Amino acid sequence: MSDTTTRRAAETSGRQQGDHPSGDNRFELVDKQLKRGRYSQDQLIETLHVAQDVFGNLSEDILVYVARALRLPPSMVYGVATFYELFTFDPPGDHSCTVCTGTACFVKGADDIVQGVSEAYDVPAGETAADGSLTLKTARCLGSCGLAPVVVFDGEVLSHQNTESTLELVAAAVGGGS
Ligand code: FES
Repeated sequence: MSDTTTRRAAETSGRQQGDHPSGDNRFELVDKQLKRGRYSQDQLIETLHVAQDVFGNLSEDILVYVARALRLPPSMVYGVATFYELFTFDPPGDHSCTVCTGTACFVKGADDIVQGVSEAYDVPAGETAADGSLTLKTARCLGSCGLAPVVVFDGEVLSHQNTESTLELVAAAVGGGS
């Protein structure tokens, strides 16, 4: 990873990676959603959506985390997650790039970022490249609109991205791009 990318990641939250008690700062975005929903159990599906957007898929750890936060039985959370086809348990490719396309990010060029990465790596949004090297996803608002456009790349939340900066960090990790 380049110094620029590392610096950009550190600037994003002003905290070092791994500060979240879980050891994975992606959970901060899940926490934001939980707080926004006032930890209401009615917010289960919305919370799972955000978690999937951030992590690329739903793992057992994530389901247990959400279940504890909403004080729901893990079996119920698992049941809901498996009921809806929108949720996936399949792990993403070797690298994962999620571009927020919520309103604030959209008006600041998120669609250009999606298109740029999609064309450079021949991977449609929502899919994994044929060689498994990169999964490109879009997300609804990740709750950090002040940082728009927001990109989550391999677990790092990156603020104020554009096509060029995103392609730079993808190239640093995946290589290539055309
Ligand atoms: S619209 Fe992208 S973080 Fe809110």
